[in-house]
Amino acid sequence: MAVPLHPLLWTGVALAAAPVAFYAVFLALLVTPFIQRHALYAHKINTLLWSDVNRPEGWGFATNQVTPFTLDTPDGESVYAWHVLPLPLYLKHESSLVNQQPGLSPNFAETGSFRLLKEDPEARLNTGHIAQALRPDSYHALTDTSSYHVVAIDYRGFGHSTGVPSEKGLILDASTLVEWAVNVAGVPPSRIVLLGHSLGTAVVSGVAERYALKGVEFAGIVLVAGFGDLASMLSGYRIGGFVPLLGPFAAWPSFVRLLDRFIVDKWHSASRLTNIVRHTKMRLRLFMVHAKNDRDIPWTEDNKLFRAAANETAGGLDDGEFEAWKEQRTVHRGKDAFVATWRSDPDIMIQQELFPYGGHDPIMGYAPVALAIMRSFDHRGWNR
Ligand SMILES: *[C@@H]1O[C@H](CO)[C@@H](O)[C@H](O)[C@H]1NC(C)=O
Repeated sequence: MAVPLHPLLWTGVALAAAPVAFYAVFLALLVTPFIQRHALYAHKINTLLWSDVNRPEGWGFATNQVTPFTLDTPDGESVYAWHVLPLPLYLKHESSLVNQQPGLSPNFAETGSFRLLKEDPEARLNTGHIAQALRPDSYHALTDTSSYHVVAIDYRGFGHSTGVPSEKGLILDASTLVEWAVNVAGVPPSRIVLLGHSLGTAVVSGVAERYALKGVEFAGIVLVAGFGDLASMLSGYRIGGFVPLLGPFAAWPSFVRLLDRFIVDKWHSASRLTNIVRHTKMRLRLFMVHAKNDRDIPWTEDNKLFRAAANETAGGLDDGEFEAWKEQRTVHRGKDAFVATWRSDPDIMIQQELFPYGGHDPIMGYAPVALAIMRSFDHRGWNR
């Protein structure tokens, strides 16, 4: 005879079951490519909706210091871009720049700002992403006192760009920007630093790999708040910094492998870095910067990136050996900060910096990022 459950007990079971059911539905929805991509890229949550990206003065830039323009990708999308002039150069040409037509430039190549970029033999270019309120602020840090120009794009599906995001598409957008910089603006790869933040680190790794396979080397690759690959990142991801997305499943390596199979855009950055190091013929400057208090993506993800890159030339160390080997190359700066540096032939420098402050977003405007860019452009070489 079945034991009838007390109605109150039933309620208890139902209440306990509801979150589990929701969670199952949530996971099921996430394996649907359409919904998965919306959840991952969150490109419809545009934090710039209430502010006009065609009026960069709103972020404190000087009049016409920023020129908004668009780029056409080979597959027919239109990608919205910003060119930010370094302030010292702006100052020299201020009187002509203020008279330029403000707002979205229909023909950027005919503007004075473009000529300043093209004719500046010192032009150093950083590439990044616009459509989040915090990033324009970080571009101040890079352009206020330096000679660096910044060109940033909104990936397809974000902000004012057309299309929908995908791994292939985002890498194509960033490649379109590189092609434009090299062929239209005339800035060679040796004067370009690829700068990526968060998901942008995965895009930058993809673009850098694509060019490395063609024998093209950039001045530097700077990855801020990056992650090894999407599946392993999600396994440690905490929604709002607190609720673990994958809860107890995350601890199983086999679950992470299974997740990797269901993810449409895998973003295997770590193995891409291995590939980049493997194809380096002349020079590589690869930097990873992460804040200790990043509550979105744990800083330990950088260990995976550093290891994937450094192990390629360190020579077949196993896990334990690698940890000891890395420790010898690590300078600790208190308990929340360290810098691990690996230099090898040809002229390769791989550096992982853990910084005590900066969270997930503000870190972009912090000194370690600007320093990584300066180190990329520093051609004095290195002493063994
Ligand atoms: C380093 O690379 C070697 C050879 O590819 C591999 O066998 C080893 O597991 C790697 N070590 C680490 C710590 O990733």
